[in-house]
Amino acid sequence: MPVITTIDDLKRLHKRRAPKMFYDYAESGSWTEQTFRENTSDFDQLRIRQRVAVDMTGRSTKTQMIGQDVSMPVALAPVGLTGMQCADGEIKAAKAAEKFGVPFTLSTMSICSIEDVAENTTKPFWFQVYTLKDDDFMKRLFARAKDAKCSAIVITLDLQLLGQRHKDLKNGLTAPPKFTPATIANLATKWTWGLEMLQTKRRFFGNIVGHAKGVKDPSSLGNWTNESFDQALDWDRVAELRKMWDGPVILKGILDVEDAKKAAALGVDAIIVSNHGGRQLDGALSSIRVLEQIVEAVGDKVEVHFDSGIRSGQDVLKAMALGAKGTYIGRAFVYGLGAMGEKGVTKALEVIHKELDMTMGLAGRTDIEKVDRDILLVPKGFAGEWE
Ligand code: GLV
Repeated sequence: MPVITTIDDLKRLHKRRAPKMFYDYAESGSWTEQTFRENTSDFDQLRIRQRVAVDMTGRSTKTQMIGQDVSMPVALAPVGLTGMQCADGEIKAAKAAEKFGVPFTLSTMSICSIEDVAENTTKPFWFQVYTLKDDDFMKRLFARAKDAKCSAIVITLDLQLLGQRHKDLKNGLTAPPKFTPATIANLATKWTWGLEMLQTKRRFFGNIVGHAKGVKDPSSLGNWTNESFDQALDWDRVAELRKMWDGPVILKGILDVEDAKKAAALGVDAIIVSNHGGRQLDGALSSIRVLEQIVEAVGDKVEVHFDSGIRSGQDVLKAMALGAKGTYIGRAFVYGLGAMGEKGVTKALEVIHKELDMTMGLAGRTDIEKVDRDILLVPKGFAGEWE
């Protein structure tokens, strides 16, 4: 067993152990993948100031996201098909998050259902919804989340249609996989994955199959999104959806100051500055470039969270220094899950926590809640001058 010290180590194992179509699903951006690449390469442009002879004892990464205690400001993001990276993947990831003291967000496009995750965890998790045409289905989703005692709803605003990821089309992505010569050849090399998968009954989109009406092929993500997602979504509809849930609401997928202002005006609890991990609008700016201007515009009205591009504790620290009150990891925990199941998710969280804690200390800070822009060196024009 290799010694795992980085998120990249987990990624290599994930690639080896999970079927190609699911690894590729996680590792893709849309079209040319420019935004996907820049989400991480723009983080690399930010530097951290080295400060010395500062008492770094008693460091704390504890804080709150939407008023809930977290051991570090890193939630698990909603990721579709997580239960295909490894059998019962969402349950395993939720358990690891719960033990670590960070929020787990279940995707509507999960394999394990809301009820599956609720039955197998002891603390409330967050539930993510897309904006769908079928109002009945939406209402039932909210009711199921309420019954499962979810402590927040995350509404995704940047996926009225699914960005095209070439690999998914070429691989014929479905859950469960359809048996073609190419998938059979690939699955034949993934024994552990297959044996574990045979031992669970959770191999379909658990929140959809048997719940959504009139979907022709519910094993195909592309089909379901094309047929069911609400392309007519507007801010009035977002306001209606906000009212369907009487607890905390987080709006995900904000990348523009004007949209951030509209979201804040709805009185939601948080917004997530996000470009969906570069999976939707290719050519959009990286999330980290737009974070600061969104915090400046609405940070006193609504909690600003951040995702897209975080692969290390240093990245978490950089986003916090630019004003985020919390961050999310998607791929970083999925690599862990695909590599080693629940243990791998715990490993991913440990790696990120250690990096965050030590980097904070070396930057002369001891409390994540007091980290500010002063710890960073931001290249001139980092936000860019765009007309
Ligand atoms: C779903 O949200 C996806 O990005 O595939």
